[in-house]
Amino acid sequence: MHNPNPRHIAIIMDGNGRWAKKRLMPRFTGHKAGVEAVRNIVKACVERKIEVLTLFAFSSENWRRPEEEVSLLMKLFMSALDREVKRLHKNGVRLRVIGDLSAFPEKLQKQIEASHDLTKDNTLLQLNIAANYGGRWDIVQACQKLAQASVDGKISVDEIDEQQLEQHLSLAGLPEPDLFIRTGGEERISNFLLWQLAYSEFFFTKTLWPDFNIALFDEAIASFTKRQRRFGRTGEQVDSNA
Ligand code: IPE
Ligand code: IPE
Ligand code: MG
Repeated sequence: MHNPNPRHIAIIMDGNGRWAKKRLMPRFTGHKAGVEAVRNIVKACVERKIEVLTLFAFSSENWRRPEEEVSLLMKLFMSALDREVKRLHKNGVRLRVIGDLSAFPEKLQKQIEASHDLTKDNTLLQLNIAANYGGRWDIVQACQKLAQASVDGKISVDEIDEQQLEQHLSLAGLPEPDLFIRTGGEERISNFLLWQLAYSEFFFTKTLWPDFNIALFDEAIASFTKRQRRFGRTGEQVDSNA
């Protein structure tokens, strides 16, 4: 029994700092090299007809890093956005930046908005970049919206269910990640998509993000296709429905 290719892949791109350290270079060099890896994986997703790719670029906890690293990351994000958006658009990619964008410099917020506008009608790949994103933040902001709707008399408390909450999350309406990949050797979620990863298949690799390549990406997909997804049922039940 084989699963079809994942429709949605979510990745924690970890290990940029260690990649640079190994080469006796500043951490920032690793982040720059990481952008190159992003470009390759986006292209691979388009070629493999993956529908959704969600990448963790900056967590709500990453503000705790040294000021210099945070500010260089912002600059890198802006210049990468500037450079890549046209190419993404040309390749049929729809770009969404998810997270609490209000914390970003106004110029960056405008740039993000413009990239959303430019690519909104593209349908080949939905690329979500999680920036100043936290899974807990996402659930809380969805609850706030539901609470407001309730105060406004638009929804009653017993109408609030999983589906209603899902509709207010950052990735509302998209299929949940089938496959979750984390590079860099750590085996944790680090407050990424907490709600949406409920039934994802996990793939961990020690490879540092700048070294993550298409061969390894294909290995992750191949590993996914061989797994039996049971969603609470028994293996026999799943087999007999196949
Ligand atoms: C991931 O790489 C990128 C960001 C969090 C922005 P790291 O910077 O966490 O790299 P390591 O984990 O220190 O090697
Ligand atoms: C998670 O990586 C966030 C991103 C890759 C953007 P971290 O390197 O920040 O995670 P922890 O701190 O090791 O859990
Ligand atoms: Mg890290």
